[in-house]
Amino acid sequence: MKNKKIKVGLVGCGTIGSAIAEAVDKGFKNRASLVAISDCDAGKAAFLRRRLKKKPAIVAIDKLIKSSDLVIEAASAKISGQVAKKALLRKKDVIIMSVGGVVKNHAALFNLARKAQCKIYLPSGAICGLDGVKSASVGKIYKAELTTRKRPAALAGAPFIEKNKIDLTKIKSEKVIFNGSAEEAIAGFPKNINVSCALSLAGIGPQRTKVRIIVSPNYTKNIHEIEVEGEFGKLITKTENVPSPYNPKTSHLAVLSAIKTLRQALDPVKIGT
Ligand SMILES: NC(=O)c1ccc[n+]([C@@H]2O[C@H](COP(=O)([O-])OP(=O)(O)OC[C@H]3O[C@@H](n4cnc5c(N)ncnc54)[C@H](O)[C@@H]3O)[C@@H](O)[C@H]2O)c1
Repeated sequence: MKNKKIKVGLVGCGTIGSAIAEAVDKGFKNRASLVAISDCDAGKAAFLRRRLKKKPAIVAIDKLIKSSDLVIEAASAKISGQVAKKALLRKKDVIIMSVGGVVKNHAALFNLARKAQCKIYLPSGAICGLDGVKSASVGKIYKAELTTRKRPAALAGAPFIEKNKIDLTKIKSEKVIFNGSAEEAIAGFPKNINVSCALSLAGIGPQRTKVRIIVSPNYTKNIHEIEVEGEFGKLITKTENVPSPYNPKTSHLAVLSAIKTLRQALDPVKIGT
């Protein structure tokens, strides 16, 4: 990606996608332009297009991949694995926000990226400390744990909640709602726990990474705490996230992380880890 304007294609025109599109529209003048957008909800794509100065084409995902140098997925874990695979097969770089959708087949996708000599970026989203976890993973990590605190409503519709018939409106105080591996958390809360996927992939994998989800109607922030122990010592981080006003499931830091990942992809300077 040297000395040319990068053509960006965006799948998903919701909270994160719109923020990325607006950032590219305003701030990436000589480095990137948004050439194509795609969304299963045609209204959302059209609404976003109207707000942009430089109008991208609204196209189906395959066409979007074909016409882009860098594909950004900000849609759903249901399609993120496919988007990554298709983009890499066409030798395009790809940023995946719905990290939960790539965890299961991450080894195959990472190999594909290496073979194609393309980049696959998995942003840290709403957690802090992945820089340290990545460094720690060069040596031995003995333990990696994530504790997530959210309002009960943020988990509405999650398969774990539905399967266990949990009435979220009846929860009046702090309650541990889930305790298990990151692999189980991803299956039970595919829209809520992308951070556990990023932590797993940076560290010791989704089976060995432990996740605890605590809910309370009194929480005003999405809080993620990481505790990792290894031969390096121990690291603990706590991130108190303001939820996005447009989507309470998504933290504002995740939106900023997506924009920063794109900036880093275009910038030769790398800071951290
Ligand atoms: N990595 C992280 O830390 C992190 C943090 C927050 C959200 N996320 C994930 O990023 C994704 C986007 O989040 P958001 O807050 O922008 O969500 P959102 O609901 O605001 O927007 C998602 C958009 O994608 C579209 N979409 C859904 N399924 C699609 C499909 N199959 N094909 C095309 N378009 C589709 C929707 O119509 C919507 O416009 C979600 O999967 C979310 O779980 C990741």
